[in-house]
Amino acid sequence: MLNLSADQVLSTTRSVRKRLDFNRSVSRADLQDCLDIAFQAPNGSNMNSWRWIIIDDPEIIQKIAEVYNIALDHYVENVLGEAVGENYRGASIPRADKINDSVLYLRENLHRSPAILIPLLSGRVENAGVFAQASSYGSIIQAVWSFFLALRSRGMGSAWTTAHLWREKEMAELLGIPLDKYTQVGLFPIAYTIGTDFKKAYRKSFDEVVSWNQFEL
Ligand SMILES: Cc1cc2nc3c(=O)[nH]c(=O)nc-3n(C[C@H](O)[C@H](O)[C@H](O)COP(=O)(O)O)c2cc1C
Repeated sequence: MLNLSADQVLSTTRSVRKRLDFNRSVSRADLQDCLDIAFQAPNGSNMNSWRWIIIDDPEIIQKIAEVYNIALDHYVENVLGEAVGENYRGASIPRADKINDSVLYLRENLHRSPAILIPLLSGRVENAGVFAQASSYGSIIQAVWSFFLALRSRGMGSAWTTAHLWREKEMAELLGIPLDKYTQVGLFPIAYTIGTDFKKAYRKSFDEVVSWNQFEL
């Protein structure tokens, strides 16, 4: 365990891509510890209707990486489209180039991950109203973030990714997920981090995003 305060863990848990140590294995016992902590997060009516798949079989990880890469390429080619370079809508974000570089690095190396986590929420929400959507995602996202924090305090890390959902069906078939009953929330590579000194990242300031008592833009 790293000797970090709660505030340090909360403010330095990053999306780690270039500093994932693909040469060091992670133990099932440690992953179970992290998930046991994650399960303490709130979930609607305490139904615990989530499911979690941890993949640590290198052959399946290889296939997962292939699906992720196809999906990410689809996203970049068809969704981001021509909007690259200065025109990319995230281009004004500090360190945007570094993020792109790092996304590419993960794309090239995902197959080397010692383990991958795919959380599932129960049901389908794409045609549901905002209450069902908020309740469904709100019943699992906190647990996933708690998992990230538990990894961080143990010297491990992950990167939040959703790109593979452009090929959700292919991933569901690969892992035997019943597509009509469960929704994949994301895909999270897990590894020890190379070094443990992570820093605060750029975020818009309090004054830019917070108003008191009334909506303000
Ligand atoms: C909802 C969501 C989806 C994301 N999808 C991807 C993805 O598919 N691939 C990827 O490499 N990073 C993905 N990211 C990571 C972001 O790019 C990352 O959070 C950003 O680089 C900021 O890094 P930081 O969290 O360390 O500050 C995603 C993050 C979020 C929150």
